[in-house]
Amino acid sequence: MSNPPGVPADKLPRHIAVIMDGNGRWARERGLPRIEGHRRGSESVRGCIAACLEAGVPYLTLYAFSKENWQRPADEVAALMLLLDRFLAERTAEIMERNIRLQAIGHLQDLPDKARKRLETTIAKSADNTALTLTLALSYGARTEITDAVRQIAREAKAGSLDPETIGEEAISSRLYTAGTPDPDLLVRTSGEMRVSNFLLWQISYAEIVVTPKLWPDFAKDDLFAAMQEYARRHRRYGGI
Ligand code: IPE
Ligand code: IPE
Ligand code: MG
Repeated sequence: MSNPPGVPADKLPRHIAVIMDGNGRWARERGLPRIEGHRRGSESVRGCIAACLEAGVPYLTLYAFSKENWQRPADEVAALMLLLDRFLAERTAEIMERNIRLQAIGHLQDLPDKARKRLETTIAKSADNTALTLTLALSYGARTEITDAVRQIAREAKAGSLDPETIGEEAISSRLYTAGTPDPDLLVRTSGEMRVSNFLLWQISYAEIVVTPKLWPDFAKDDLFAAMQEYARRHRRYGGI
């Protein structure tokens, strides 16, 4: 384990969340189909994982497919699902070898059966791995996640197992898909867009945000190191002074 240059151990983020954006633009700039951008983008995941493993960052969450992304043309959606399936088929051995625990958040029931089953298999197989928790956000929307939690809380209150007066922030956090995972310290978005696009809205309340103009297929290990360096320079105040 080695810290990225200039980052002391106590300034490393514990959890990095990434909005992997810009695959379509990367392809368009090269006169290629958008799908080729997604294919190249899926390769960039490896560099981010390597950066986290090398630096000793224990949690990495990747926004791979949003609830809203189902609105895209059917052939693009199908290609993305196929890429997910292939990613799991080809990388499970590597996930095990590198001691990575895979998790997923979102409405996984929306995914095609084949990809969902592969995902569940790799999640189960890697459950006891300890070097890095890699969470894929798939068919994920933060408002849906919060709505699901609210519905669960209402159910419990109605059944009498939860007293409304005792509901605090922890009652909500523990009913989100991310229960048990620390909130992200660092949120990275590629391709220059200054928005959060319905990602982890509750969990990023005090995350440091780094937006890079690099398009996702061009984003490599050193770019995540650079984001960690930027994070280390920030002064997190949490409303204090
Ligand atoms: C990110 O790249 C991948 C997904 C959202 C699935 P985009 O496909 O959004 O790429 P741009 O934003 O059109 O360049
Ligand atoms: C956010 O990117 C979702 C993912 C990276 C999976 P989008 O490209 O879908 O977001 P918008 O449409 O630019 O907000
Ligand atoms: Mg986009």
